[in-house]
Amino acid sequence: MAKARIAVIGAGWWATQHHLPSLLSYPAAEVVAVVDRNPAKLQAVKDHFGIEALYTDHREMLQAVKPDGAIVALPHALHYPIGRDVLDAGVHLMMEKPFTLKSEDAWDLVQRATDRSLILTVGYPWNHTSHAKAAREAVSSGSIGEIQMVSGLFASMVIEYLRGNPEAYRGSFKFPVTGPGEDTYSNPELAGGGQGHLQVTHLAGLMLWVSGLRPAEVFAFMETFDLAVDLVDAIAVRFDNGAVGTLAADGAIAPGQRQDHEIRIYGTKGSIIMTPIPGRLSIHYANGEVREFSALGAAESYPESATSHNLVDMILQGTDTPAPGTLGAITVDLLDAAYQSAESGQKVAVRRHDAATVNR
Ligand SMILES: NC(=O)c1ccc[n+]([C@@H]2O[C@H](COP(=O)([O-])OP(=O)(O)OC[C@H]3O[C@@H](n4cnc5c(N)ncnc54)[C@H](O)[C@@H]3O)[C@@H](O)[C@H]2O)c1
Repeated sequence: MAKARIAVIGAGWWATQHHLPSLLSYPAAEVVAVVDRNPAKLQAVKDHFGIEALYTDHREMLQAVKPDGAIVALPHALHYPIGRDVLDAGVHLMMEKPFTLKSEDAWDLVQRATDRSLILTVGYPWNHTSHAKAAREAVSSGSIGEIQMVSGLFASMVIEYLRGNPEAYRGSFKFPVTGPGEDTYSNPELAGGGQGHLQVTHLAGLMLWVSGLRPAEVFAFMETFDLAVDLVDAIAVRFDNGAVGTLAADGAIAPGQRQDHEIRIYGTKGSIIMTPIPGRLSIHYANGEVREFSALGAAESYPESATSHNLVDMILQGTDTPAPGTLGAITVDLLDAAYQSAESGQKVAVRRHDAATVNR
C-alpha cells in the first residue's frame, strides 16, 4: 500500500498526544521524521514511540528526508517562518492553528502553496465533523436564505496556559509524553496573544467555513486582567455581504466547570444552531420546520485525528479538506484586525489580499 511520508515539526504537547499517535496508527501514513529544537523532547519521542529519525533543525530535515507532507505544531510566532520553509521545500503542509499571526503572512503562505500546487490545510478538528458538513450544506444550498447575522461563543479552560502554568491541567489533559512549554501560550512574543489565537481561531474557523462569510470590518474589546495576553474577547464584525455578527470568548473556565462553544447563523429563511460542545446541531426554518441532527459522541464531536489523517488522504487520494489554507488566512484576517482594533480602540477594515485558491 502506498503511504504518505509525513514529518512532524514540533514535538510538544499536541504533536505527542495527538498527531504522532494518530499518524502511527493510520495505515496510509509513515512518520519519516520528527523535529524539535529541544533534544529532551526528541529523546522523549524516541523513548515513547520508538522513532529514530530525529532532527533539531527543520531545514536539515527537509533537505535530508524530503517528506511528502509536514505537520507544523510549533509556538504561534513560528508558524509563518517555518511553514514558509516547508512550502519552499516543495512539501505539502498541515499548519496547526492559528494559521499565522499576521494577515499578510497568511496570504503569503497561500500564494506559495498555490504557486507550487501544494496542499495547504489548517488544524481545525471541529470543521471535520458531520455537523459542520451538514450546516455548511444548509447554507450553500440556500435553504436558510441570505445570512444576515451570526453569533459565536467560546468559553473554555485555558487560563493556566495563558498564565504560563500548564502543569495545573495535568489532571485534565494527562500529557502522556509532555505538556506545553510554559512560554508557549503565555509569552506574547511566542503566542501573539491569548484566547484569540488559542480559541477564537477555532470559533472563527468553524463559523466562517459553515457560513462562507468573509470579514470586512472588525471592532474588538479584549481584556488581559492579570495576564500578559488576552483572556476575554468581544469582537463585532461586518461581513462583505452586509451581514453582521459577534464572537465572544472567555478562557477562564475552571476544570470541572461547563465549557460552552456555540455558533448561531440567522438567514432570511431560517437559522442554524450548532453547539460543537457537546456535539449538537439543529436547523430551524421560517415555515416552522425543524431538522434536529443526532448528537455526536465525544470522539465524533472533536475528531483530533481527522486533521492529520486528512493531510494523508489529500496527498494520496486528492481528498477535499474542510479546513483549506484560504480559510486559515480568512480567519487570520479577522483575528489580526481584532487585535489591531483592541489595541487602537478603532474599527479596523480588513485589507483584502489576493484570494488565491488552495482547496485541495
Ligand atoms: N488543534 C487543536 O485543538 C490544538 C490543541 C493544542 C495545541 N494546538 C496547537 O499546536 C501547536 C503546538 O502547541 P503545543 O501545546 O504542542 O506547544 P508545546 O510548547 O508543547 O510544543 C512546541 C514545541 O516546539 C518546539 N520548538 C520551539 N521552537 C522550535 C524551532 N525553532 N524548531 C523546532 N522546534 C521548536 C518546542 O521545543 C516545543 O517542544 C500550537 O500552534 C497550538 O496552538 C492545537
